[in-house]
Amino acid sequence: MTRVVTIMNQKGGVGKSTVTVNLAAIRAEILTADLASDAFSPVAAVSIDPQGSAKWWANRVTGLPFHLIQAHDDPLEWLRQLNDLRGIDEVYVDTAGWFDLDPDGSEDGLGYGYAADVLRTVLGVTDEAIVPMLTNPLCFDPTARTIRKLLEPRGIPYRVFINDWDPRDGEHWLEETRKFVRGQGWPLAETVIRHYKVHTNASNEGIVVTQYKQTGTAANAAADFYNLAAELNPIGVR
Ligand SMILES: Nc1ncnc2c1ncn2[C@@H]1O[C@H](COP(=O)(O)OP(=O)(O)OP(=O)(O)O)[C@@H](O)[C@H]1O
Ligand SMILES: [Mg+2]
Repeated sequence: MTRVVTIMNQKGGVGKSTVTVNLAAIRAEILTADLASDAFSPVAAVSIDPQGSAKWWANRVTGLPFHLIQAHDDPLEWLRQLNDLRGIDEVYVDTAGWFDLDPDGSEDGLGYGYAADVLRTVLGVTDEAIVPMLTNPLCFDPTARTIRKLLEPRGIPYRVFINDWDPRDGEHWLEETRKFVRGQGWPLAETVIRHYKVHTNASNEGIVVTQYKQTGTAANAAADFYNLAAELNPIGVR
């Protein structure tokens, strides 16, 4: 079986694509540590976001350690088999920052149309979800809708984590965000991914987190993602 981890938040720009690509890279590095360097990677990132940010990024990377599949134009039949991909142990699914939630009381919380069908199909095979959010109150409601309407009704285990916090802004909103998340009773990863320019620039530079310089600021930035990957694995542990 392939473990399917879906990265989602209805709020745009919270870091879904960034975490999908970087977690896939770290997991591939870990899972292939004892294999030959040209071994088939057991990790895939699947993007169902028609904007294709993850694909744009991955296409610029030399020696991408995982497979990148842009799934939007694929038949739903293929997505239904995501948890049974030959040779792939783990799939990280990058979702779009917009989708219609419950337009007129649809039963499963999703709207109609192809994008909703794609997400519905992916949720049907998802083993665990990861929900990035920012230390910004604008993010609170969309995050709550994502969890209450899509994840909890389906019984999908999920973890929230805080992304893109800039220590120079002080701790106030970090603490407020933590309080909000705990108040909702959501499982929150301890690891906070801090704001670093190296993360913002990585897609343009055509590198993933496992390829950052191993010294100085870049190493500190990478450490956050390594910590997150360690904390989020194994699946289902809360
Ligand atoms: N921890 C971080 N430090 C610095 N920049 C970051 C960080 N996380 C994300 N970014 C930047 O923030 C922007 C939004 O991130 P990303 O594209 O991953 O979000 P998204 O949730 O996938 O957005 P969308 O909803 O549009 O798909 C990007 O420019 C990305 O490089
Ligand atoms: Mg994205």
